[in-house]
Amino acid sequence: MTIAENLEKLFSLEGKEIMLTGAAGGIGSALARGLAGAGGNMILCDIDEGGLHSLKLEIEAMGRTANVYLMDISDLGSIRECVSKAVNDRKRIDVLINCAGINKREGFLDVEEHTYDRIMDINLKGLFFLSQEVARHMMQQKSGNIINIASHNSVGMLGGCSVYGASKSAVTALTRSMAVEWAQYGIRANALAPGHILTPLTQVTWDHPQRSAYLEERIAMRRPGLPEELVGITVMLASDASSYMSGMMIHVDGGCLAGGSPWPYDTKY
Ligand SMILES: NC(=O)c1ccc[n+]([C@@H]2O[C@H](COP(=O)([O-])OP(=O)(O)OC[C@H]3O[C@@H](n4cnc5c(N)ncnc54)[C@H](O)[C@@H]3O)[C@@H](O)[C@H]2O)c1
Repeated sequence: MTIAENLEKLFSLEGKEIMLTGAAGGIGSALARGLAGAGGNMILCDIDEGGLHSLKLEIEAMGRTANVYLMDISDLGSIRECVSKAVNDRKRIDVLINCAGINKREGFLDVEEHTYDRIMDINLKGLFFLSQEVARHMMQQKSGNIINIASHNSVGMLGGCSVYGASKSAVTALTRSMAVEWAQYGIRANALAPGHILTPLTQVTWDHPQRSAYLEERIAMRRPGLPEELVGITVMLASDASSYMSGMMIHVDGGCLAGGSPWPYDTKY
């Protein structure tokens, strides 16, 4: 076998039906292109209709398949309708990637109930009930794979992110529950925790001189990650290359959790 054939056998997503939420966003759209490029048939869900349709055209121009569904993940009715339509159209869902998420940076004492509820409804409650709905189909198939997009804030906290951080910490707990309860049905679940990635969600922070300097000090590689830099690890998680991996969280953060960038010190090199 050639190297290319060996790699294809390990990592190919050919024939896999992959449902992705938050597909029109910065990270979601990069994952959609990357996974389609690795052979996945994309089931793209978001509230952003225009974004979904331009992404569908892009993926079809690559010669790959994409179905799009308007889904408001904070609405259980919308989740159920969308999953039912997707299963009707594509017959199965092999991989679910929970990527839809929002944040609003506010001090702990300033957060009002509607902001708390909005963040939790999208980042946590929506992820919970969509996973429940999709897992019912995966159980019938006796196979499935769930990838939850967590965050650096699942473990290391930035100021003003109390509700977001709590939602993302809870995502890692849910990932472990899915792994433990659903392994018997052939379903595995892992979380991917991106560090500081440059997307529409974070552009405002990276445009701010003080905040971007603060972040650069805390990242060993001293730069934000690009959404495309999350594709390789997601292909690995979505493919059979990670067939014995479940319940884990992987950080892709340019050396942020490791300790960030050191101050200058005497060195021989
Ligand atoms: N950008 C980062 O640095 C970073 C770091 C760690 C984790 N994350 C996580 O990655 C994921 C994607 O973030 P991003 O930076 O691409 O953000 P983004 O704002 O570019 O994308 C988020 C997407 O979610 C969609 N969305 C929002 N509310 C929704 C709802 N109710 N129903 C369905 N879809 C909805 C939006 O329309 C958008 O397309 C989020 O879960 C975020 O928490 C991002």
